[in-house]
Amino acid sequence: MVVHTDKDSLSSDLLPRRKQNKKIGFVPTMGALHRGHLSLVEKALKENDSVVVSIYVNPTQFDNKEDLRKYPRLLDNDKELLQQVSGDILLYVPGNEDIYGEKVASKHFKYDGLEHQMEGAQRKGHFDGVGTILSILFEIVMPNKAYFGEKDFQQLQIVRKLVELQQIPVEIVGCPIVREKNGLAMSSRNKRLSEKEFEEAAFIFKTLQKVKRKFSATSIKKINEFVKEQFLQNEYLKLEYFEIANEQTLVPAKHKMKANNYRAFIAVHCGNVRLIDNVPLN
Ligand code: PAJ
Repeated sequence: MVVHTDKDSLSSDLLPRRKQNKKIGFVPTMGALHRGHLSLVEKALKENDSVVVSIYVNPTQFDNKEDLRKYPRLLDNDKELLQQVSGDILLYVPGNEDIYGEKVASKHFKYDGLEHQMEGAQRKGHFDGVGTILSILFEIVMPNKAYFGEKDFQQLQIVRKLVELQQIPVEIVGCPIVREKNGLAMSSRNKRLSEKEFEEAAFIFKTLQKVKRKFSATSIKKINEFVKEQFLQNEYLKLEYFEIANEQTLVPAKHKMKANNYRAFIAVHCGNVRLIDNVPLN
């Protein structure tokens, strides 16, 4: 696996592949890789000849300086994990300078209102940072297909909107959530949980599964009340938001409409770690 730390060397490594019409897949990440990330890389390798994996902790998408500072950086471990996957992988690990030049700053993006819901409402400027970094990375990598996890379902829908609005010629592929044995959605931030917190955090997915079972026969109002109550009884977890929203518009639903697909979205604090998850409901 070749590691590139600047865009010019990555581009020249990709050039012969492009000339031979090879399909290039792309998996952007912020590192501290786990099986969730690897599932994206494996899918990308199945569907393309070569795969670029980027590892870059993008400062402009963090609304919280402490979260950025504490974000796990485990490059040696990441390289080892990627080496266990067989295929033509090009690893791109840029520094701030390579991505942003002199000034690390984000542009403002509109995504037809998707940016105002949930993560967008809670983390100011987050999706501006995501849009900024991804438009830069897409321009450098110029992939045929790019892979994103449903773990960050709102991000996935926003990326689909970004490439549609900016007319970026890349196919966006969504990939299912990979979970720990206890049901907790895998996340780089899980590394910051204590053993006890890790165990307790399984309650998040357990509650989402209960919501899924209730969905057809219970009103959305009752489900919202149920979830709030569940978390009030758990001393380890603090509920930030729970929403049942239309998968396409991400607008929280008040009542169920037959034609729509709904998903339950949740953000929870466990100690000082913020965790998100979601499940499809119908
Ligand atoms: P990061 O959190 O590292 O995630 C990289 C990709 O892995 C995202 O598409 C995310 O949804 C996916 N992923 C994370 N955990 C997963 C899991 N348990 N199952 C399946 N997929 C999972 O998301 C980002 O980085 C950044 O915002 C980025 C897109 C790289 C832009 O900076």
